[in-house]
Amino acid sequence: MKVTKAIFPVAGLGTRFLPATKANPKEMMPIVDKPLIQYAVEDAIAAGITELIFVTSSSKRAIEDHFDSNFELELNLLERGKQDLLTLVQDILPEGVSCAYVRQKSPRGLGHAVLCAKQLISNEPFAVLLADDLIDGGEKTCLQQMMTVFNQTQASVIAVESIAPHETKKYGVVDVNTKNTNVCTVRGIVEKPSPLEAPSDLGVVGRYILTPSIFTFLENTAAGSGGEIQLTDAIAKLLEIETVLAFQFQGKRFDCGSKLGYLQATIAYALKHPELADDFQVILREFIECTA
Ligand code: UTP
Repeated sequence: MKVTKAIFPVAGLGTRFLPATKANPKEMMPIVDKPLIQYAVEDAIAAGITELIFVTSSSKRAIEDHFDSNFELELNLLERGKQDLLTLVQDILPEGVSCAYVRQKSPRGLGHAVLCAKQLISNEPFAVLLADDLIDGGEKTCLQQMMTVFNQTQASVIAVESIAPHETKKYGVVDVNTKNTNVCTVRGIVEKPSPLEAPSDLGVVGRYILTPSIFTFLENTAAGSGGEIQLTDAIAKLLEIETVLAFQFQGKRFDCGSKLGYLQATIAYALKHPELADDFQVILREFIECTA
């Protein structure tokens, strides 16, 4: 089977970025000139996804507007002859890609958010992308790389990367059969373990390809870590009946859900931005010299 649908859970509260996220969605925060959610959508589209399903909440309307056309703005740009900018706003989504929105009434956790999209998925494998994990995959996006693994195996694939021991409390951590290859079988998975309880140093990051069997487990998953319905707990059940693969992707991930990760991403993307890179490098150098 081919994966054509992706779920983007965007209904969280973004408390780590308050007050910025009081009225504005965290997923709309820009890295240089593009919102986080657009980077995630571009990752999915590069991987062949054609149906984008956003799990939203009442404070996230800006996300719907971002992927819709804006007649007034487009007319204004057209009248002022700003063709480049017009193309930029009109080409956010390519032809043949559609969006659907479903509400999560209260932020009951990532697992619950994914379950909210069940009716739109039917009985087929799907991807899940978390916009606050910004991944610069280089030649191939992270989901594109994962899709190659899925197409060869038809098994669920979760993206993982090596994390520092003191960071295990922030991640789902996998137990794997071997660490010698970039694709390995998951034997167990735990949400936010202490460093002593962590089964490995491989933390789950925000890209998943899942088979629809996950919904049965999500429906029966009680609140876990942090009082939330955890996707990790449902994956722990899924791997008892199906193969689940952990995939160490090529590329650099930025944890844009944290302030430091967000700043790091901003610097990295500014340093490779065609219009800004040269000037920004000079500014950064001066800044470092001043503060040294
Ligand atoms: P996070 O836990 O990183 O986001 O969830 P958060 O809860 O919004 O942020 P903090 O921790 O309070 O700062 C990862 C993704 O899952 C979505 C979030 O919107 C984010 O994109 N999410 C999380 C939901 O859609 N629903 C939820 O109940 C929880």
